[in-house]
Amino acid sequence: MIEKNESVKRLLQVGIALSSVENLDTLLDLILKEAQELMGCDGASIFLLENDKLVFKAMRSGTYFKMWGEDKTRATFKTFEMPLTKNSIAGYVAITASALNIPDVSQIPAGEQYRYDPTFDEKYGYRTVSLLVMPIKNKKNQVLGVLEMINAIENDKVTKFNGEDMEIAESFSSQAGVAIQNTSLTEQLREANFDTIFRLSVAAEYRDKETSNHIKRVSYYARLIADKLRYCSEDCSLIFWAAPMHDIGKLGIPDAILQKPGPLDPEERKIMEKHSVIGAKVLKDSKVPVILKSKVVALAHHEKYDGTGYPMKLKGNAIPVEGRLVAIADVFDALTSKRVYKAQMPEEQALKIMRESRGTHFDPEMLDCFLGSMADVREIRDKFEDKPEDFDKLKDVGSEDLNELLK
Ligand code: C2E
Ligand code: SIN
Ligand code: SIN
Ligand code: FE
Ligand code: FE
Repeated sequence: MIEKNESVKRLLQVGIALSSVENLDTLLDLILKEAQELMGCDGASIFLLENDKLVFKAMRSGTYFKMWGEDKTRATFKTFEMPLTKNSIAGYVAITASALNIPDVSQIPAGEQYRYDPTFDEKYGYRTVSLLVMPIKNKKNQVLGVLEMINAIENDKVTKFNGEDMEIAESFSSQAGVAIQNTSLTEQLREANFDTIFRLSVAAEYRDKETSNHIKRVSYYARLIADKLRYCSEDCSLIFWAAPMHDIGKLGIPDAILQKPGPLDPEERKIMEKHSVIGAKVLKDSKVPVILKSKVVALAHHEKYDGTGYPMKLKGNAIPVEGRLVAIADVFDALTSKRVYKAQMPEEQALKIMRESRGTHFDPEMLDCFLGSMADVREIRDKFEDKPEDFDKLKDVGSEDLNELLK
């Protein structure tokens, strides 16, 4: 247990440290570590409220870590849920939104609504004595979860938590609450970003006559090839997130051409081919790496390995890697899907065309990787299968239930 002045200084540092962590699991572990040190206790654990349940998220324990090591301890105390009721200590604290300082869990008065659950102690031979249990709240005072500190230690002996511990724990848990709230916002924004990429890519390309499934399949196929080529996981992710925007330039192509039910004449074809340059122009001047990667994909995904593609007639390795990857994914998916201008092709026929284009349209090494991974390819195709009811989302505008959309 550190001195009071030291604690205040320490609390400030902790606040700064907590606010710089973006990943929730990393943040929770840091909170537990700091709680152990600030309070001088043997263990600490965190529950978060999710859909009206209390979810056990993480723990640290001096005793268990010494006995089993961190990995075995974490594997043993896996996440679990419990109902939000006043019968448990964590539930009681979450519902009442106020702290509990319990000097000895075996001496909880019979009249209290909560009781200590000794299951883990009995199973593993640990003895929990004192508990300091704090609600974790956000800035609006809503309870996000519960922080439990277990067994205060003084001079190597288990003792109870005192008033000063309570004070420190109070400031600490409010810092933790703000940090947890910020992290979930960051994660939500990340997800929102990705979701938006897929939705807008579809809207741009198909004017809502398609689902995002085609675009998702292309992304997953492209990442599959990158993965089989043993690109590092960051590069695989970049390709995955850049691929959906490969045809974003189709937003600049008139409906009469884009939606034409039959083959294009040479003049229409010329306009259609502009979609790669239009896409690159839409995406240029960004500072965000994944957008810059998307720009390159948009520009280069119709180049061919033998130099007969468009718009630059690049040849072989002069075509950017991500352009060569997405070309394979895009064509395979175009062949095996229904389009306004053509029917779907059986897999065998599509694969024949792919094989015949080895070294002419496609990078041979990348194509071999793709063709060698057909089990994974089929799995992706089944997972993001087109269903007739998904097409033509805008067909019945006017007849939908607006109250349903308002939810
Ligand atoms: P998309 O439908 O996504 O097709 C992407 C690429 O898949 C095509 O690039 C082509 O390389 C390949 N592909 C698609 N269908 C077939 C096929 O039946 N046989 C073979 N061998 N390859 C096929 P491409 O040709 O540069 O076309 C780019 C985009 O232009 C297409 O994207 C599509 O939106 C449009 N497009 C191409 N041909 C037609 C057409 O005849 N009618 C209409 N309405 N649009 C077309
Ligand atoms: C996601 O938010 O869908 C996952 C993000 C990622 O794994 O990069
Ligand atoms: C995903 O599977 O949702 C994408 C993961 C990635 O970023 O590669
Ligand atoms: Fe294209
Ligand atoms: Fe495409």
